[in-house]
Amino acid sequence: MSFHLIDIKDANELQRAAILDITRQFELTTKKIHDIKQHFINEMHKGLEKHGNSLAMIPSYVPGTPTGKEIGTFLALDLGGTNLRVCQITFLGGSEIKIKQQKYKVLESLKTGEARALFDFIAESIDRFLTDLGDEHNDGKLDLGFTFSFPVEQTAINKGTLLHWTKGFAATGAVGKDVVELLQDSLNRKNVPVRVAALVNDTVGTLLAYTYIIPNALMGVILGTGTNGAYVEKVKAIKKLGNFHFNSEDMIVNMEWGGFDNERKVLPITLFDNKLDRESINPRAQIFEKLISGMYLGEIARNVIIHLIDSDLLFKEIHFQFSNITYQRINQQWGFETAYLSRIEADLTPNLDNTNSILKNDLNVYESSLTDRQIIKRICQLIGIRAARLAATGLAAVITHRKAVESGCSIGIDGTLFEFYPHFEQRIRGTFDELIGSNADKIALGLARDGSGVGAAIAAMMAAKNRE
Ligand code: BGC
Repeated sequence: MSFHLIDIKDANELQRAAILDITRQFELTTKKIHDIKQHFINEMHKGLEKHGNSLAMIPSYVPGTPTGKEIGTFLALDLGGTNLRVCQITFLGGSEIKIKQQKYKVLESLKTGEARALFDFIAESIDRFLTDLGDEHNDGKLDLGFTFSFPVEQTAINKGTLLHWTKGFAATGAVGKDVVELLQDSLNRKNVPVRVAALVNDTVGTLLAYTYIIPNALMGVILGTGTNGAYVEKVKAIKKLGNFHFNSEDMIVNMEWGGFDNERKVLPITLFDNKLDRESINPRAQIFEKLISGMYLGEIARNVIIHLIDSDLLFKEIHFQFSNITYQRINQQWGFETAYLSRIEADLTPNLDNTNSILKNDLNVYESSLTDRQIIKRICQLIGIRAARLAATGLAAVITHRKAVESGCSIGIDGTLFEFYPHFEQRIRGTFDELIGSNADKIALGLARDGSGVGAAIAAMMAAKNRE
């Protein structure tokens, strides 16, 4: 399958050579994605066998999957990106759900300050949410499902220590601690009548919520600010659990696939990725995530753009005419947002007018030629295609490992990349054709918007049922 790339007709020879070189660096041949897929499957086995693998394969301890018939009211909390979401979720049976929710912005100072302040803020937000709801359910302790979208080594449905932060979080005093305890302490100190009943990753939450609607779904996936996948595994295949007794044959596993191939054995990493990684707050970690997810794609594009400016191959006309102001935005780390890539990829005007307006209005680059804009669009396409192809490779590895190629399966996906980035799904599908062949159309991909909150409430419900 070849992916459509914009033609750059009027590029000069030097530009052509540079574009060809960059195109090669970002391209993933069919052979390469087959190799990556195989390595992914091998790493899944390793992660299931022992702790500490870069593909962590973390057991979720969620006791079973929902039937859709359950009833009851539970709280859910979702921490993992820009916002903290607090929800009250009522299961009405018959796969029907009623949700009341509120979002609270997580300030940068909380993300990188002391963990205690972050968890106090969460407890206060829950308190505020309950006050706004009124007293209707405040007779005794409310059970809460906590979606915590970071790598946590779980040891029970309501216990898990933070391995490391990702996605720009770096609060001190949390790594190595049980995040349920941290939250429960803050709730107790502030007299908020809530019991943290279940801890789930957002991928696990997404899968649970999806299963409530589509029974027997195989995977829950996030393709947004960060990326990760969870899937249903046979308990007996999770060798590192030893003789642990579990009340079901299956258990959801949070793969933490962002850390896949941190050793860089198969992933083709470019100079531009290395620069991003070195300058990030978690160098040498989450390498797969850094090639795929929304937090990073803009920055990779910025690195390529800067390289071409510095090589005198981009914006030549303005290079010597304007002051530094022109490049102020583009010189800044994270100055080129992934949302621009999305808009540039969607720009179908012959003169790339929308791309021009991003350059002018968002980046203060006032003069650009059509060739400049075409080159920029090509860069965005290369980065977007590579991201979708790598995501598809991870999905195909799980589908193959679970022997679901011939029978087919359903996958619930949440996240801005999957929902809004142009052609993302289509590029995943194109890659499935190469990796899975004629059975590719038996794989159903569905949007599972905001599933993780509902999923956390389902986990709380199942944990409460198990306690009875
Ligand atoms: C985290 C995962 C999470 C993913 C999607 C990654 O950075 O490590 O736990 O599932 O982001 O939010």
